[in-house]
Formats: sequence, C-alpha cells, structure tokens
Amino acid sequence: MAFIDKIKQQAKQDKKRIVLPETMDKRTYEAAEKILKEGIADIILIGRPEDIKKNSEGFDISGAVCVDPFTDPNRQKYIDKFVELRAKKGMTPEKAEEQMTSDYMYYACLMCKCGDADGAVSGACHSTGNTIRPALQLLKTKPGIHSVSGFFLMEVPDCEYGDNGLFVFADCAVNTDFDSAKLAEIAGLSAESFRMLTGDEPKVAMLSYSSKGSAKHDDVTKVADAVKIAHEQYPDLKLDGELQLDAALVPSVGAAKAPGSEVAGHANTLVFPSLEAGNIGYKLVQRLAKANAYGPVLQGLAMPVNDLSRGCFADDIVGVVAITAVQAQANK
Ligand code: ACO
Repeated sequence: MAFIDKIKQQAKQDKKRIVLPETMDKRTYEAAEKILKEGIADIILIGRPEDIKKNSEGFDISGAVCVDPFTDPNRQKYIDKFVELRAKKGMTPEKAEEQMTSDYMYYACLMCKCGDADGAVSGACHSTGNTIRPALQLLKTKPGIHSVSGFFLMEVPDCEYGDNGLFVFADCAVNTDFDSAKLAEIAGLSAESFRMLTGDEPKVAMLSYSSKGSAKHDDVTKVADAVKIAHEQYPDLKLDGELQLDAALVPSVGAAKAPGSEVAGHANTLVFPSLEAGNIGYKLVQRLAKANAYGPVLQGLAMPVNDLSRGCFADDIVGVVAITAVQAQANK
C-alpha cells in the first residue's frame, strides 16, 4: 500500500477536525469533498456564506462545518484569546478582530488554540511565511522545543535506499539560520516525525560535504558539533555524522567513509545543514527522481498546522490533511 493510503487509513481510525481557511480557492472544495467522502477528517471551512456558496459550486461539501467569522457565536472568545496571547505585542480587540477576519489563517489558529479544531492546513494561495506566521505567533512550540522546522516525507519510486524509498528530509522550509543546537533539535524532531508517519525506526544522517572529518571548515564543525549535542540529547537515537549524502545512503560508500556506523549507508532521515540545501535537495529528488513530496509538514508546533505548495492539486491537500490528522492523533 502506498504511504499516503496508509496515512489516510490511520486518519480514519480516530477522525480529527481540520480547518481549511482558503475558501477563496476551488481546490479547497474539491479536496473537502474527497476528504468527507472518504471519511478522512471532519472539515471546517471559514468564510462568508455567500462566498462559500459561490466558490463551492459543483462540489458536495454538505458534510463540512462552515464558520462565518463575522457572525460566529465564538467570535468574541477568539478576540479575547488573541488579545490575551499577544497583548505584549500591542494587540487590541480592534486589531484582533481586523486581523482574524481579514486573514482567516489567524481565525483557524485561534479555533485550534481554543480547542474548537484539531489542526489546520493552508498555503494553496498564501506564501509559506504568511501561512506559518499565525501558527508561530498563536500556537507556539511544544513544551521544551525551541524552533519549529519543516520536513518533507519523500516517497521515491523504485528506490532501494532509506526505508524502501521513504525518507524524511529536514529542514526544507522554515529556519533561515542554523546553529549546532538548532540542527540537533531538528534531528530529534525529524526522527520522531519519521517514526510517527512510517512506524519504522529512524536512522538519522547529519549531512555535510564532509564525512567524519574528511574536510575542515566552520560549516563542517557546525554539523559535527550538532552530532555531539544530538547524541547527548537523544542517546537512544540511531544518528551519525557528519556524512556526505552518498555515505548516508549507499551501504558500500557508508562502509568505506564511516566504517562501523550503524547509520551510514542506511539513513532514512536526512538532516540538511542549511535551508538552501534542504529546499533545493527535496525539489531535486521530487523533480528528477519523480518522488512524491508530502509537505512541508511542520514539526515542533504545539498543534498541527501545515503548509501547501501554491502549485498544489486538490489531492495534495487531501494528503496533507490526512498527515495533519495523524499528527493531531499523536498530539493527544
Ligand atoms: N520556531 C518557533 N517560533 C518561530 C520560528 C521558529 N522557527 N521562527 C519565528 N518564530 C516566532 C518568533 O519568535 C515570533 O514570535 P513572537 O511574534 O511571539 O515574538 C514569530 O514567530 C514571528 O517571527 P518573526 O521572525 O518576526 O517572523 P517572520 O515572519 O519574519 O519569520 C518565518 C518567520 C515566516 C518562519 C520566516 O523565518 C520565513 O519566512 N522562513 C522561510 C520560509 C520560506 O520561505 N521557506 C522556503 C519556501 S517553502 C517551500 O519551498 C515548500
């Protein structure tokens, strides 16, 4: 069974309430119809009734809950929560009302924060920054986590590497500057994400252009230091580095460049040393190896909120909603 079909099956076991705030986009309704029909999640749509009626023409979304942010009986509760959370940043009731009714992603995150939804998915017509900023501001990180990061679950066809072609690649989406501590935290979160979504044991490679000291540079030291921190923080985790990509994936190269490593040659969770490397790396594999790339999925947030590519299809939204629902199940 394909990875995403397993995730959909898992989502159906304990249905979660997922908010889709992009009700200006037809793909939202096409996805909502499929999600409701397949029973993957309960769907909440945010928008004015007249807009939803017009934009959803041709799609059966009768099973969705539609929330009008201008007449919703919970609206005052969300304004109060917004002010409570952001008062130190100058938030007032007037500004809160304006922001959550002009940018429905804020409304969606407030619904999650107040326990009226279990997760949210957006980004079909908003940039990554505009999609995740409301979540960073309102939902914040899980206890003990310093930084939210973004991974892709990569499903590479006909691939003998990783977990039969399944990988987590991180960080491909969020952090624009990395130090060793942040890299180590990304490694721990990525391992957890890999285990949650595949059910298999993560083997984490901390990637570099050097393997085990073959090159000397501050960039290499940054990754080697991250490995030391990660070993201290997650002593039971199979993690190694710094490793070049071939040493991480190919058993013969791993054995030559990192003899004795239980990760080299067998890695299924790839932690990139920078956002450039991670973002370019996942797109290379997606385009040249024709891999399915699910994400960016956010990890480390207190509640699951996920982004979409603006070029996404309705089926991509269905997949990300299923992943979000499974993250919400794990959040209990
Ligand atoms: N983890 C946790 N909290 C964070 C993080 C993080 N990684 N980054 C920012 N925050 C918090 C800040 O502390 C701040 O909180 P506060 O307002 O309560 O003080 C809040 O989020 C806003 O932070 P800013 O730095 O002011 O927000 P900004 O909007 O400038 O940056 C963002 C945040 C959106 C994540 C930014 O780092 C960004 O744009 N990253 C790159 C996104 C991107 O373009 N990715 C590549 C494309 S994705 C793709 O190709 C699929």
